[in-house]
This record gives sequence, C-alpha cells and structure tokens, in this order.
Amino acid sequence: MSTAMKASLRVSRGAPGEDKRSELFEVPYEPGQSVLDALRWIRAQRDPTLAIRYSCTSANTCKECMLLVDGKTVYACTARLEPREMKVEPLANKALIRDLVTEIAPPDERL
Ligand code: FES
Repeated sequence: MSTAMKASLRVSRGAPGEDKRSELFEVPYEPGQSVLDALRWIRAQRDPTLAIRYSCTSANTCKECMLLVDGKTVYACTARLEPREMKVEPLANKALIRDLVTEIAPPDERL
C-alpha cells in the first residue's frame, strides 16, 4: 500500500446561541471521494454527533447536502475531497440548525 494520504476538514460546529467554533478532523484521502464521503467517515469513525444532512449521496438528486467548502456553495456529495485542509461551513444565508445543517424548504415546497 502506498503512503496514506490525508485530507483535513476544518468543520464548523455549534448551534444558534452557542459560541461558533470549528474542529479539525483528519480523514484518509482516496482520489475520487467527495466531501460528503469524508463527513460520513468522520461521523462513523470520529464523532457521531456531527450534524450533516443528505439523502441521496450522489449527484445532486436530493439537494440537501448543500454547504460551503472554502467559502463556496457546493453540494457535499459532488464536491471533490482534496488532500489538503478544507474549510467546511453551513450555508451562510440560511438559518442554522446545528453544525452543518441549515433550514431548508421541504421537498414539496421546492417543486
Ligand atoms: S446528498 Fe443528495 S444532492 Fe447531495
């Protein structure tokens, strides 16, 4: 096996009314992984309390995984993980629920 590469995600944590903070998580890096893959790995291996939202895990179907990576709005399931430090934050223009989850309209209101 080649030397394991790592990605580091600096993840914004907290709920409204709490101090804003971020936590740094190192995750194993594999080419082709998405930011959502890394966030799910963090939940499974490091911190099950990390709040994220997604339904489809691929290709913009549910649109629930939208968040900011390095300040840009992306779908976490299609944003490529890179072997460097990446900043992951909730959408800035939506009401924060907790960690990376913001208030979004239910699916039937989006149609
Ligand atoms: S998880 Fe459904 S669009 Fe990203």
